[in-house]
Amino acid sequence: MVSQGDRMLGFGRSMLAQWRLDPEVIYLNHGTVGATPRRVLAKQQEIRDEIERRPSQFLLRELTGIVVGMPRPAAPRLRAAANEMASFVGAKGDDFAFVENATTGVNAVLRSLDLGEGDEVLVTDHVYGAVAKAAAFVTRRQGAHVRSIELPYPVAASDQIVTAVMSAIGPRTRILVLDHITSESALVLPVREIAAGCRSKGVPVLVDGAHAPGALPLDVPSLGVDWYSANLHKWAFTPRPSGFLWAAPMRQQNLHPAVISWGLDQGLSAEFDLTGTRDPSPFLAAPEGIAFLRDLGVDAVRAYNHSLAWEAAQLLSRRWGTKLGMGEEMVGTMATVPLPERMGSTAEDANRLRDALLFEDRIEIQLHAWRDRLWVRVSAQIYNDLSDVERLAAAIEGR
Ligand SMILES: Cc1ncc(COP(=O)(O)O)c(C=O)c1O
Repeated sequence: MVSQGDRMLGFGRSMLAQWRLDPEVIYLNHGTVGATPRRVLAKQQEIRDEIERRPSQFLLRELTGIVVGMPRPAAPRLRAAANEMASFVGAKGDDFAFVENATTGVNAVLRSLDLGEGDEVLVTDHVYGAVAKAAAFVTRRQGAHVRSIELPYPVAASDQIVTAVMSAIGPRTRILVLDHITSESALVLPVREIAAGCRSKGVPVLVDGAHAPGALPLDVPSLGVDWYSANLHKWAFTPRPSGFLWAAPMRQQNLHPAVISWGLDQGLSAEFDLTGTRDPSPFLAAPEGIAFLRDLGVDAVRAYNHSLAWEAAQLLSRRWGTKLGMGEEMVGTMATVPLPERMGSTAEDANRLRDALLFEDRIEIQLHAWRDRLWVRVSAQIYNDLSDVERLAAAIEGR
C-alpha cells in the first residue's frame, strides 16, 4: 500500500497542473494514450527550436553516427539519449534503439525472422490486436502460421500462466511473442519464468513491453529474453511517439528495422537510428521524462499508481457486483474490471457505452467487449485519485 507520506507529496488531482489535460474530463486512460507532462513538452519544444535554427547541421551531422561531412568528435545526439534511456531499463546503449512505438519494434523483429513452411509463431489469447496482425502478415508470406495459447482467466496465480505457456510450446515453435503487461486484461505476466522455460526448449522470446517502462521496475537484460519492444510514451512520461527495441547481442546480426535506410548491415544503432528523415525530438526529449519521474520519485509514483489501480479494481467490482479475474500480484498500474451484465456484451455495446461515458459523463476510459461481456480498464496515474474512480462507479450505476 502507498503510505500516507506519498499522498502528502501531492499525488492526486492537484498533479493535473503538471499536465495539459482538460480538467473537465476525468482521464483514466493513461495506458491507452499516455499524456506528456508540461515540463517534457517544454524540453521537446526547446529541441525543436534548436533543430529549426540549423536543420541540416542538426539532422545530417549531429543526430546519428551516419554523417554528412567528416566524422565528428562528439557522440551523436540520438546515441547520447539512447544511452541515457537504456540505463533507465538496465540496458547498454549498444543493445538499445529508439523506435517510434512498441508496434514498430515488434514489426522489426517479426519481419526479420526467417521462417519455414509449417513453422509457428506462438502468441497468447491476450496478445495486442495489432501485434497479432503483424504476426499474421509475416507468417502468411512464409508458409508459417500463428498459434494462440489460451491463458487461464480468471487466474489465481501467475504460475498457472507459466504452465499454460510452457505446455503449449511445440516442435515447430520458432518464437514466442509475450506481453509483459497484457493490453485489455492488464495482467502482469511472469516473463522471467516463461523466458527461462523457453530457453531450456531453445525457443526465443520477443516481449511486447508496451506498458512496462515506468510502470514496473525493469532490468531488461536480466529477464533472459531475446528481444524487448516497448513504449516510453505511456508510463515513462516521454513525448509521443517514443519507444525502444532492445535486442540481446546474439540476436542483433539479422535484425533490421521495418524501414531500411543507409545503415543497412552496419549494426543495430546504425540501422535503427537512421530510418529516413523524421522528427527526433520525442527521442531527444525522452530523458526529460525520466528526469521528471526521478524528481517525483520513481518508486513513489509506481507505488501510488499500483495502489490506486488495485483499490479501483476492488471498489468498482464491489460497487458493480462483479468478480475480478486476477489478484493484486498480477496488477501493475492498470486494472481490468468486468462491468455489470446489463451493460451489454458486444463490441457495439462497448462503443456506445465508451462514447456515453466520454460525452455525457466526461470520463475517458478503455472499455471493451471480451468473452461475452464488457470490461473497463482503469489506468491509474499520479494525477488521478479515488474520487475519479468514484465518479466512474456512479456513472455506471446511474445507467
Ligand atoms: C500490449 C500492447 N502492445 C502494443 C501496443 C501498441 O502500442 P503503440 O500503438 O504505441 O505501438 C499496445 C497499445 O496500447 C499494447 O497495449
